[in-house]
Amino acid sequence: MMISKELNALINDQIGHEFEASHQYLQIAAYFESHALKGVAKMFIKQSDEEREHGKKFVNYIMETGGELKVPAIPAGKTAFATAEEAVQYALDWEWEVTRRINTLMDLAIKQNDHLAREFLGWFVTEQLEEVSHMDTLLRVVKQAGEKNLLMMEAYLAHE
Ligand SMILES: [Fe+2]
Ligand SMILES: [Fe+2]
Repeated sequence: MMISKELNALINDQIGHEFEASHQYLQIAAYFESHALKGVAKMFIKQSDEEREHGKKFVNYIMETGGELKVPAIPAGKTAFATAEEAVQYALDWEWEVTRRINTLMDLAIKQNDHLAREFLGWFVTEQLEEVSHMDTLLRVVKQAGEKNLLMMEAYLAHE
């Protein structure tokens, strides 16, 4: 077995968080779809697919290192948002939370001198920069446009 019990347990938790994010982004996509912002909805569906892929990367890692996979129960996501800004802020806060969790995983890998895990987790560390900065930019677009001009979001995403 090439994975410690402690890291195995934390990665099982992380698989839950990735799948939770995947579900949450579908809820956010539905919010934008209901406001006829199809481009934004499509972007969140793509994000949802990416989160599922992240979860599967962790699943593969547990399988390949001979660990024990235990996918946890996935809590229901937030289904109602008052504004587009609230929905995007929610996604950004989530990405910050995930970044903190990935860093905790990396801290453990470093503490355990687990070089394989460090290599594996390095991809996620870099990925979170993209995820946070993308969501942060989208939030700034929403704030600049204002709730009455959300079509600006569509224009921004079309030219991204
Ligand atoms: Fe993720
Ligand atoms: Fe993400």
